[in-house]
Amino acid sequence: MEQFDFRRMSFYQIWIRSFADGNGDGIGDLYGVYDKLEYIASLGVDGIWFSPIYPSPNADYGYDISDYRNIHPDYGTLEQFQKVLNRAHTLGLKVILDLVVNHTSDEHPWFLESKKGRDNPYSDYYIWRDPKWKGESRLPPNNWYSQFEGLAWEYCPEREQYYLHVFAKKQPDLNMDNPKVREEVKDIMRFWLNMGVDGFREDVITYISKHPQLPDGIPFLPAINGLPYYKDGPNLMDYLREFRAVAMEYGALQIGEAPMTPVKTALTYLCGRDRVLDMMIQFDTMMADCIMTEYVHHPFSLIKLKKAFTKWQNALSGKAWNALYLENHDHPRVISRYGSEKYWRESGTMLAAAYLFQQGTPFIYQGQELGMTNIRLGSIEEYQDVASINAYHRFFRHQSEEKRMHRIHISSRDSARTPMQWNSKKNAGFSEAEPWFPVNPNFPNVNAEREETDPHSILNFYRKCLKLRKKSATLLWGTYREYLPHHRRIYLYERSYKTERVLIVCSFSEKEQTWKLPEGYSWSGVSMLLCNYPGKARPGILRPYEVQVFRWS
Ligand code: GLC
Ligand code: CA
Repeated sequence: MEQFDFRRMSFYQIWIRSFADGNGDGIGDLYGVYDKLEYIASLGVDGIWFSPIYPSPNADYGYDISDYRNIHPDYGTLEQFQKVLNRAHTLGLKVILDLVVNHTSDEHPWFLESKKGRDNPYSDYYIWRDPKWKGESRLPPNNWYSQFEGLAWEYCPEREQYYLHVFAKKQPDLNMDNPKVREEVKDIMRFWLNMGVDGFREDVITYISKHPQLPDGIPFLPAINGLPYYKDGPNLMDYLREFRAVAMEYGALQIGEAPMTPVKTALTYLCGRDRVLDMMIQFDTMMADCIMTEYVHHPFSLIKLKKAFTKWQNALSGKAWNALYLENHDHPRVISRYGSEKYWRESGTMLAAAYLFQQGTPFIYQGQELGMTNIRLGSIEEYQDVASINAYHRFFRHQSEEKRMHRIHISSRDSARTPMQWNSKKNAGFSEAEPWFPVNPNFPNVNAEREETDPHSILNFYRKCLKLRKKSATLLWGTYREYLPHHRRIYLYERSYKTERVLIVCSFSEKEQTWKLPEGYSWSGVSMLLCNYPGKARPGILRPYEVQVFRWS
């Protein structure tokens, strides 16, 4: 079936537990989502990506699935999901779901069966290996660490074997080399596509094919030492092709999450009519203040950010299509990272223009359009995210409590998982009941209701940008070019199409900056499309975190 044109679109990501509580138990749900669909449509986006809404013991908040064909009772029912889906479609919004098939929950019936023994129908659904013995001591099959907690292997006394878990202990990796498992995946896809879902965001999909020998990784590298042996593995293309065939029966969209996949490899998934993924979630733009993960922090580097932006823009140009994002449920809030909480409105709006006008399909994470920032909770006991808790107890354990908590504040995924700030009433209007996770105390200032009525709010700036992008052929299809790549405070990029050129100039500084037009440009014939300061902008001068967008046509 013909695919819809995702390149013209933009998406809004919902992490449901913190979005809107519709039935008053302190947990976001599909009743709450239903009531907010008009709000989402009002942003000017064209689709919604739901992070997992399936039954899950919540060891990794939904990314540990115990039933692929149902809705978590906290979030509603299949009927309620169908209602949300239909209403979204009526409003012109596509809906894509998270497809998490690298692993399941250890409470999934497949795993419960699989761990019982070596000769039942599910025994080969997961990656089981015999122990290694050193004299009397039983050792795991190799030296891999998991990304979330300790070693990547857990011993199962019933089978007298270890199972692999690249993430948390409660997330055993599926054995995708087993054709039955791949049939299950295709069946799950069909189940949701038959309901009317428009596609999938495919969770760590580039991890599903493991190196057959599972060799030891670099001994002293924690958390990701096995990465070279499970990322972009030998059979990945074949498996993706199988899933693609199902998606294409429905014209469904496929976006693959691909941590650490280099551009060159990315192109093999993304190019041409035979592509196996329509877009990819790369991680380079998430590393302008850290190395590999937010837990290895360094001061924000604009140069690093610009390099990442430009690398992906150039490499995919004319061949493939970018997914653009600055936030999702796995990363702290971008104003707190790449902008400035002091220049909150200015940096929040500037960051929007810094990425929404690049070539690609933008994703906006719930609350990003309001300029929500990181929460700072007092103690680790208040945190819920398995990765944060593990980092606190493992990696930061030799540091003072103060330092440890500072690291959690700047790195935790929970920073982006606080309840959505709808208004300045009780619990930020998220719920009547005590919310499942603390609300950021800045909600009286940062909330949708307040920003709705302020023409200069971050919320209304996002709306303006999305509108502008949608009606401009230059912003949609134009070529990308970066100027001043070595400038440490200014990001200047151009989009050009036929006879039109648009320049976007962004200041990442608290101080006034001056800049000059690139060669071949002059101020005559220019019009200003957008600026994030009220009042008159001065060409050539940028106030703190100012962004100006100019057009020549
Ligand atoms: C992806 C998800 C993340 C999850 C992990 C394991 O990176 O985005 O939230 O913890 O995969 O499923
Ligand atoms: Ca609820």
